[in-house]
Amino acid sequence: MQRHRMPSKKFKRTLVTTALPYANGALHLGHCAGTFIPADIFVRYKRLCREEIIHIGGSDEHGAAITIAAEKAGISPQSLVDKYHQMHKDALQKLGIAFDHFSRTSNPIHHQTTQEFFLDMERKGIFVKKVEKQFYDEEAKMFLADRYIVGTCPVCAHPEANGDQCENCGTYLSPTELINPKSKISGKTPVLKETLHWYFPLGRYQKALEEFINEREASGTWRQNVINYARSWLKEGLGDRAITRDLDWGVKLPLETEEAKGKVIYVWYDAVLGYISATKEWAQKIGQPEKWREYWLSEDTRLIHFIGKDNVVFHALMFPAMLMAKNDGSTEKYVLVDNIPASEFMNIEGKKFSKSRGYAVYLHEFLEKFPADTLRYAIAVNYPETHDTEFSWKDFQNRTNGELADTLGNFVKRAVDFCNTRFGGSVPAECTLEDWQALGKEFHELLQKIDEAYEGFHIRDAAFLTMEVARHANRYLTETAPWKTYKEDPAKAAKSIAISLNLCFTLGVLFEPILPHTSRKIFDMLDINSPICWHDAKTPYLKAGHRLSGKSEILFRKIEDREIEAELKKIDELVKAAEASEAKKQADAQKPKSEIAPLKPQITIEDFEKIDLRVGTVLASERVPKADKLLKLRVKLGEEERTILSGIAEHYTPEEMVGKNIVVVANLAPRKIRGIESYGMLLAVEDAQGKLNVVELHGEGLNGRAVK
Ligand code: MF3
Ligand code: ZN
Repeated sequence: MQRHRMPSKKFKRTLVTTALPYANGALHLGHCAGTFIPADIFVRYKRLCREEIIHIGGSDEHGAAITIAAEKAGISPQSLVDKYHQMHKDALQKLGIAFDHFSRTSNPIHHQTTQEFFLDMERKGIFVKKVEKQFYDEEAKMFLADRYIVGTCPVCAHPEANGDQCENCGTYLSPTELINPKSKISGKTPVLKETLHWYFPLGRYQKALEEFINEREASGTWRQNVINYARSWLKEGLGDRAITRDLDWGVKLPLETEEAKGKVIYVWYDAVLGYISATKEWAQKIGQPEKWREYWLSEDTRLIHFIGKDNVVFHALMFPAMLMAKNDGSTEKYVLVDNIPASEFMNIEGKKFSKSRGYAVYLHEFLEKFPADTLRYAIAVNYPETHDTEFSWKDFQNRTNGELADTLGNFVKRAVDFCNTRFGGSVPAECTLEDWQALGKEFHELLQKIDEAYEGFHIRDAAFLTMEVARHANRYLTETAPWKTYKEDPAKAAKSIAISLNLCFTLGVLFEPILPHTSRKIFDMLDINSPICWHDAKTPYLKAGHRLSGKSEILFRKIEDREIEAELKKIDELVKAAEASEAKKQADAQKPKSEIAPLKPQITIEDFEKIDLRVGTVLASERVPKADKLLKLRVKLGEEERTILSGIAEHYTPEEMVGKNIVVVANLAPRKIRGIESYGMLLAVEDAQGKLNVVELHGEGLNGRAVK
């Protein structure tokens, strides 16, 4: 278990945000594990502690992620987001995520807020405007956002790399690097056309952001993974980020000029501002329209973003820099984030599944079959805090049946039923402070540790420790066995039940953040209707004579093997289908490819002479961690030595490459691949079977010489 630290500063209020999921598909367990459930658990804990806190979320409804999904579905972007926003809302409510407000970025208030930020920065001259060449689809008559372009990856030769990233080798790309680019809209080869874009000069905030991250690190409360992600971006050096796009779906540029026509603000610039506009909407909803200012425009607010690890750069660097820019020269100062408990990923039945096989457990489907609290618990105990974790159906069944049903459910039911049948439904004795103390040091330490776990965002620890309390309670009842003592020593049995009922109450409080529906049921049985707080869990609450409601409920029904088998069967079928399609793909790949690429347009000798081809000798070679296709080569080129990355690792071992005389495109602009700078490219030929053959020269004294 880790050490826990409290926030260093005393804040007046807390604003928790949860990453806005795209409204382009149903929510799945990954969303729940990464953001919604941990955020909700934390907020519920703080609410019980009577802290002033609000939880803000909503749907992310802009960007190419939406327009592409809408095109696929053959509907308008607006109908797509309408559909999924409603689904998100319903499913999250059923899951018990108690947002103070769940908004959406297509709302007018959000467009206004985003435009206000944009205009403020435009007026202050913060943006950089650049004309650049961008792919344009002449048939569809539109500029193509990165994701609208596919082509062959220049690194691994994967034929379906996207304009922004190759999914096969993971390399980040820009669309102009793709070989043989094609428009996803018309399938045609796009042309390069000049267009003007606004850039946010993130680089100008490099120093301020470094200080900001250092300061946050010094508080000792940030997760190491988040600091590491942020640092790695800072280390690479921050540059200008384009914040406009040629799209007709999104927040329009609030400018009347010709050059602003047909442009929208980039989705990430608007999405993070969604937290602010959603807070404004919340303030209107509660009838205090100015109240959002208390949260956003105050140093006394503790701002916390719950996100997944893939969003760190936007929340740790981009959004803070945007707020710094907004605050610049203004009397109103937006508060910067205090903590970002970013999660790692939760994989599902991991051994069998890869993402590309497309297996997801959808939240709404899950909730049709199993109660929300069983999922909340399974995720809390599997919360991917410091490393990726696994969700498996068998584990889900075991935990539900063992921990929830047998330990927690059984304990509560035994205590309540015994009180109802033998003691007329009233707490039959006083549970004194001494009785409570006698539950033992270990028991009382648990309560303390749960607090520390929550303060440090250690959701998993908190869930584990809370279940430990239930184990203690269960053991207590079993050991004191009132059903045995009832005849000879009814007073002893009464005491045992009084203490057990107080433990039921304590569990009702302690489990409220994790299992809110179950907690409600426990309080119903105990007939607790007045508001309770976290602190109430720590001392006996139920007085002798307190009447229970007379209700008795089985808190958790056990999950049958056949229910789990049905889920596993579904997976098996998907695995088989995926394997069959992979086998087919491989068989297709084995077939000689008759296709030989058509000739490219004619060039002049001058064009050709621009290319400096040289003979290089490979001195050393190694694999690149986490990039299956890449070899990193140390190449001697005449007087100099340089590093060249090449996507040949599946065709050559590092050892095989050493000593080869290869042909290098020596004057190619260096480019960064996987964080490593590559200076040049080597020539290779793909044969009919798809194997790459490096062009190799034999002979003496060739090193450094030009190939002409
Ligand atoms: N929609 C984004 C995603 O799913 C997350 C947006 S978070 C916010 O990755 F900052 F924009 F709100
Ligand atoms: Zn690739």
